[in-house]
Amino acid sequence: MRHLTTCSLTLLLASLIRGQMLNGDEGRPSCSRCDLHLSCNCSYSGFTSIPMVTDQALSLDLSFNNITMVTQDDLMGLSRLRALDLHGNRLAVIHPSAFDPLWSLEELDLSDNQLTTLNHKWFSKLEVLQQLNLLDNPYSRLSSPSLFYGLVRLRRLMFGGSDLKELRTGDLLGVTELDELTVHANNLARYDSGTLGDIWPLGHVTLSLHGPFLTNVTLAAAVLADISYPETQITLEDLHLVGNQHLSFRNFSVSDQSIVDLLVVIDGVPISVISMEDVTLTDLHSYKRLENLQAGYNKYVCGCDFVNFLQSQLKGGGDVKLTDREDSYACDSPLHLRGEAVSQVHLSVVVCHPVLFISVSCGVALLIGVLICVLLWRLHAFWYLKMTWAWLKAKRSSQKPRKDILESEVLQSFDAFVSYSERDAGWVENFLVPELEEPREDGSTSPGSSRPLSLCLHKRDFLPGHWIMDNIMSAIEHSRHTVFILSENFLQSDWCRYELDFSHFWLFDAGGDAAILILLEPLPKDNIPKRFCKLRKLMSSTTYLEWPQEEERRPEFWRSLRNALRGDDD
Ligand SMILES: *[C@@H]1O[C@H](CO)[C@@H](O)[C@H](O)[C@H]1NC(C)=O
Ligand SMILES: *[C@@H]1O[C@H](CO)[C@@H](O)[C@H](O)[C@H]1NC(C)=O
Ligand SMILES: *[C@@H]1O[C@H](CO)[C@@H](O)[C@H](O)[C@H]1NC(C)=O
Ligand SMILES: *[C@@H]1O[C@H](CO)[C@@H](O)[C@H](O)[C@H]1NC(C)=O
Repeated sequence: MRHLTTCSLTLLLASLIRGQMLNGDEGRPSCSRCDLHLSCNCSYSGFTSIPMVTDQALSLDLSFNNITMVTQDDLMGLSRLRALDLHGNRLAVIHPSAFDPLWSLEELDLSDNQLTTLNHKWFSKLEVLQQLNLLDNPYSRLSSPSLFYGLVRLRRLMFGGSDLKELRTGDLLGVTELDELTVHANNLARYDSGTLGDIWPLGHVTLSLHGPFLTNVTLAAAVLADISYPETQITLEDLHLVGNQHLSFRNFSVSDQSIVDLLVVIDGVPISVISMEDVTLTDLHSYKRLENLQAGYNKYVCGCDFVNFLQSQLKGGGDVKLTDREDSYACDSPLHLRGEAVSQVHLSVVVCHPVLFISVSCGVALLIGVLICVLLWRLHAFWYLKMTWAWLKAKRSSQKPRKDILESEVLQSFDAFVSYSERDAGWVENFLVPELEEPREDGSTSPGSSRPLSLCLHKRDFLPGHWIMDNIMSAIEHSRHTVFILSENFLQSDWCRYELDFSHFWLFDAGGDAAILILLEPLPKDNIPKRFCKLRKLMSSTTYLEWPQEEERRPEFWRSLRNALRGDDD
């Protein structure tokens, strides 16, 4: 009996000790469903509080239990834990420093619980946290100061729920860049513009904005505008819109592809009007099926493409129908077109096709130049120019340097200056000079007839070292007559024509009739080119002597010539 008592006592003691142990751990259950990778899966286990798990655990899945609170000590020792999943519990209370031991935590899921307030202190020690899920809890706003302030490694963030009412400036302070952002804001009533605007780069955004799209599109647009970057992929969820919806976007930068994406997302939504203000279209080539466009009152840069496009649309030539008034399209730049209606703008070819314009004008100028040159050549303009130039030069130099020649008195007076072509030199030297300069031996009765005449020949009498023009002018000026030996050769020689021109000028100036024309060969006036108008004039106003081919008529020729030369003496 005594032995039995001792035995019972031992059992009682043992059971007492055991009971104390249970009491000392406050009846905390434990979970040992950990695999070789130290990943402990304690989901769907009916836990009402956080169970004990090995300190070595790397991940702990406590989803779909009935846990209502996390105390200060519940997670003590889990310093190696990388992932903690508390999704789908009834969590309403979390001690402010409950997560402090979790230095290594990278992923935390608190979604689908009963948290009515969020505390920034929960996350203050989670410096390596990369993913945080706060979705679907009954909080109406994020906490202030920002929950996320110390989470410098955060890349995936999910928050919001049907109770979220407001998002305020500063709520996301500390969130710099995200790969993924999910916001459930179906009942959002207040959004401070810019709240989500500081997150960049921003990879993929999923938004539930059912309510705002129905009741306050301005708000929805403000949210969208804050997250719309060209590289950001946006997914809109839970849209169910009824009635006539007007969706507007403001200060918004999109490519045409992202517009298509947006339209795909809101496909089936009965939106009747989408308006965009302050839109920068980052890529202005597709929109091939666009039918109606209302885009007036913008600051248009009136470049050639735009003006052409708009004018053709206004004329009804394009596929797009502009539904607003023509005068709502006005230029803002360039400056000289500011305020002018685009439909009235006329841009010159110079502005729109500078290369074409320059090429065409150069081509035309070249062609005209060539034509002019051909024309001038046909009209002998170069010859006239050359003559005029020589003239001007001669006239100018006639003021001074020729006086030197005069003063040097090297030039004397001649009876006649003989102007002839070099090719007719034979005739001049063999016939004219001997006949006129040497005294006649025929014993003519006329006393003056045998007097030798002094002739000025360029070959013989021109002063070397002086400009030929000066010589010509001096010779003509100091000769009483000028005898022109006309022939085909004469017409070919520029110098002869110059002499002719000058003498004519001189004759007019002097008012006398000092030119004597000798035709070496028949030279019908009509055969003389029209540009030798002086010669033609001379030939019609002055009687000319023809060199006879028959020997017997030559004495008469010489007599006439002498008489002409001596005319002034008499
Ligand atoms: C844990 O087990 C549940 C099924 O009991 C499964 O659905 C869940 O994915 C598991 N969690 C992990 C982290 O493996
Ligand atoms: C959680 O508790 C409720 C009753 O409070 C029960 O109906 C439910 O089955 C429990 N869930 C789990 C996963 O044990
Ligand atoms: C729509 O949202 C904006 C931004 O939060 C707010 O200022 C405005 O009052 C809201 N309008 C209505 C009708 O609720
Ligand atoms: C438009 O948005 C940009 C940032 O995306 C901002 O810098 C700019 O000030 C905004 N403009 C207006 C008129 O709000």
